[in-house]
Amino acid sequence: MALLDILHYPDPRLYNKAKAVERIDEKLRTLIDDMFETMYAAPGIGLAAVQVNLPLRVITIDVSEERSDPLCLVNPEILARRGTVELEEGCLSVPGVYEMVPRSEWIRVKALNREGDAFEVEANDLLAVCIQHEMDHLEGKLFVDYLSQLKRQRIRKKATKLNKQATL
Ligand code: NI
Repeated sequence: MALLDILHYPDPRLYNKAKAVERIDEKLRTLIDDMFETMYAAPGIGLAAVQVNLPLRVITIDVSEERSDPLCLVNPEILARRGTVELEEGCLSVPGVYEMVPRSEWIRVKALNREGDAFEVEANDLLAVCIQHEMDHLEGKLFVDYLSQLKRQRIRKKATKLNKQATL
């Protein structure tokens, strides 16, 4: 397994739209394992392949306190949604920024798992928010894109400064 580099906002590659996975093979399973390792090490509760510069429709998630409930979604699709909820969201690609974003409170999602089998999952609250946040990454959308332009400009300025410091 290996730790992958996470792209940081405003890297334009975060705006790539991810392609559907056509074959779940050993190579993809290695990517999934590396994504879990990278997510746990960060630490974060969710990661999309787009964030490690692989524009594929693959997401890893674990919202459990014990970090013992890994969920991998390949080619996820939302089948149903209801209600609204707003939680303070953060993102491994936008360090240090936490903002409220409106999301559906409950969703039903279908996806393929690590073995390539189709399954459905119902989620609410934090898990539902996390899945929607990660699925936005697949469309090249970040949570900061929901904020006002003024707020986004401030975040972009701060992020650019941080990125410069990090590369010194
Ligand atoms: Ni994110």
